[in-house]
This record gives sequence, structure tokens and C-alpha cells, in this order.
Amino acid sequence: MRPKSLKGNWSSSLKFKAKLRLPTVVVLCSFFFLAGFFVSSLFFSQDVDGGGNRPRDRLLETEYDTLPFGETGDESLTSIPFQVLSWYPRALYFPNFASAEQCETIIDLAKPSLKPSTLALREGETEENTKGIRTSSGMFLSASQDKSGTLDVIEEKIARATMLPRTNGEAFNVLRYEIGQKYNSHYDAFHPDEYGPQTSQRVASFLLYLTDVEEGGETMFPYESGANLDGKHDPRDCMGLRVKPRRGDGLLFYSLFPNGTIDPLSIHGSCAVIKGEKWVATKWMRDQVQEE
Ligand SMILES: *[C@@H]1O[C@H](CO)[C@@H](O)[C@H](O)[C@H]1NC(C)=O
Repeated sequence: MRPKSLKGNWSSSLKFKAKLRLPTVVVLCSFFFLAGFFVSSLFFSQDVDGGGNRPRDRLLETEYDTLPFGETGDESLTSIPFQVLSWYPRALYFPNFASAEQCETIIDLAKPSLKPSTLALREGETEENTKGIRTSSGMFLSASQDKSGTLDVIEEKIARATMLPRTNGEAFNVLRYEIGQKYNSHYDAFHPDEYGPQTSQRVASFLLYLTDVEEGGETMFPYESGANLDGKHDPRDCMGLRVKPRRGDGLLFYSLFPNGTIDPLSIHGSCAVIKGEKWVATKWMRDQVQEE
């Protein structure tokens, strides 16, 4: 009958079309695939010495619709992978936060000006009686001092990752730990009972590891989630939650609770380096705008 033959015609013409057009479709698909590949490779080569994650941002922007943005916002979408290491204290790990080249650049900048690291002294403490607590060498470096622009890119990325404004960051403290060198457990925040009234407080610390360390040199949170608090442990020991330094990786932790008081579990230290050398760039973020 009529409907039957219509159906027959329709399906046979479809088969016919499919046969005829398959090669054309394959050619067109290949063309657009290659064209897309070519265009994206242009973006990649353009951004090689940029922030490291720019090409991915551009791909993201084609996947999602972005919104109109405010005066200080921008059109880019940022994707920064991280792992929650702990809620007590609040600690996040950022694998591959910086590239190997960026790490090298920072080490080269810092190397000529390293000095033995110092401590903020409590009442009654002297350089002599605190010897051995922090045995690394270090120096301070602000993004504006780095003509290569590397620190600028890293600082911007830290600000985006923490949503703490760049203006609230101290200059980078670049540190080198050689074999046997360490930093006993301590707080980055300054307790007013010990250090006197503070006009500004450290909220969070971002550590960027600039080298792999063959053995030792972990950042440790000895009392993570209340562990090791039985009084049988020496706080100088390397224990608790330990983060192994790896070139380009970042570690963020908060010294203050959301209500602004110091988180007792944010106490942390650097285990002694056993083999190799540890380089790290630290950025302390404050609750007040910093003048440079
Ligand atoms: C601040 O927050 C912490 C953690 O939630 C809590 O233990 C502490 O009691 C709070 N302190 C004040 C003064 O609100």
C-alpha cells in the first residue's frame, strides 16, 4: 500500500544518501578536526612562557558561558586542581601549581642573596637561645623585583586560588634547606600573648616547593586532627601529617579560624632534609593590606 511504499522509498533513499555522503562526511570531519587542532596549537605555542594554565583556560571558556564581569574581574575561567589534605587544620595541596621553569627562575633570583633565616622573637628570646630552631637560609623577594614576571604570575595565581587579595600578601620568602636543616614546629600567626598586640595577622600560608627532595624535608602538621597530643611526643619530631615536597607543587593552610582566632592545629614545621636540597617559596597572606 501507499504508506508502505513511502516508507520503503524513504529508507532506501536514506541508505543511498548515506553511501554517497559517507566519504564526504569523513573528509569534512577530518578537515575541521585538523583545523581545530591547528588553531589550538597556535594558542598553546603563544602561551608557553605565560602562566602555565592559560591554554586550558581558553578551552574552558569555549565549554562554558562566562558572565559579564565587574571592574576588577576578567573573562577568563581558571581551573586549579587541588586536594583537601585536612580540615583540622585547613590544608590544601595543589599539584603542579608552577612549572619547573618557573621554579628554576625563582631559585636563580634568590640564590645570590640568601642569608641565615631569622625568627620573630618572643619576650626573653635572643638570637643565641633560639639557635637551631630554624636552620635554613632565606631571603625576601617581591614580585616587582622580578623582571622576568614569573613571581607576578605566581602571585596572581595564589590570589585566585585563595581568594585573598594580592595586596594582603607579604613578599615571597624564598628558603633553602640543606642536609640536616629544618624548622621546628611553630605558628605562622603571632599570638598576642606571646608577641604583644598585632596590627595585622597572618591568615594563611602558601608554600610553593621549588625542588624535589630525595629524602626528608616534609612539611609536617604534628597535631593534625588532634593526633600526638598525648604528651609523649616531642614537638620537634617529624610526625603527624607530612607533605612531601615536589617541584612545582603548592601547599596552602590557614592559621586562623574563620572567626579570626588562631587555629591551634595549624602548628607546623619542616622535617630535616636527609638527602638532597629543599627550596621553597612561601607567601604569607595577612588580614590587612600590606605596604611594600
Ligand atoms: C572561633 O572558632 C573556633 C573554631 O570553630 C572555636 O573553637 C572558638 O571557640 C571560636 N572562638 C571565638 C572567640 O569565637
